[in-house]
Amino acid sequence: MRKPIIAGNWKMNKTPEEAAQLVRDLVPLVKDAKCDVVVCTPAVCFAAVKPIIEGTNVKLGAQNVHFKASGAYTGELSADMLKASGCEYVIIGHSERRQYFGETDKTVNLRATAAVKAGLKAIICVGEMQDERVDGYTDIIVTYQTQMALKGLTAEELDNVVIAYEPVWAIGTGLTATDEQANETIGVIRKAVAAKYGDEVAQKLRIQYGGSMKGSNVKGLMAQPEIDGGLIGGASLKAADFAQVVNF
Ligand code: PGA
Repeated sequence: MRKPIIAGNWKMNKTPEEAAQLVRDLVPLVKDAKCDVVVCTPAVCFAAVKPIIEGTNVKLGAQNVHFKASGAYTGELSADMLKASGCEYVIIGHSERRQYFGETDKTVNLRATAAVKAGLKAIICVGEMQDERVDGYTDIIVTYQTQMALKGLTAEELDNVVIAYEPVWAIGTGLTATDEQANETIGVIRKAVAAKYGDEVAQKLRIQYGGSMKGSNVKGLMAQPEIDGGLIGGASLKAADFAQVVNF
């Protein structure tokens, strides 16, 4: 009953010209996709990508958003700016932002709130570090991150939220959570949502897996009942690779 969503997270890759070429190649390859298809490109690529995906099933996303509407926040972009540039989605709280750019559960919540209130769809990332999994804290970490990220959002606003479960140790490492590990932890995240919003809302919410998801492992992951799609880094940078994931 939940429509899967596969989103590419290009991270800091591609010039506008390279981005245009990638989406030009991608559009025909994914036109019959049964899932929602999103490309989260660098902001400097929005203008190049937007006209190419216009009227197609490929949607545009950003990789971050600031929580203020405007002002003296050098280097940041507001939700309205993203919307005006053609974005429908925005990734929030990616572990690389948490690790390298001081993102906290508090700022993740502020950014998610600003995004949703402005009419963007937020892809909120949660996930444990390797030592946290080894020490047995995975469930506590993802429950806390999820509930903090959603704090203050209404059940209706959750219609515009997707959660991405990304175990940090599986990102860009070639290590993937097993199908069962990913399914189990996503089940924990769904319970964390149910505890605050009730079962009906939790059952509607889409929760992706992310972390070295690619053509060779997408089928097994997507066969799991809790997994509603993927947030794809490395395998989203070539049209054929990404299409293979989208057309799982
Ligand atoms: P990866 O990245 O697919 O390269 O592991 C996923 C992500 O960081 O969203």
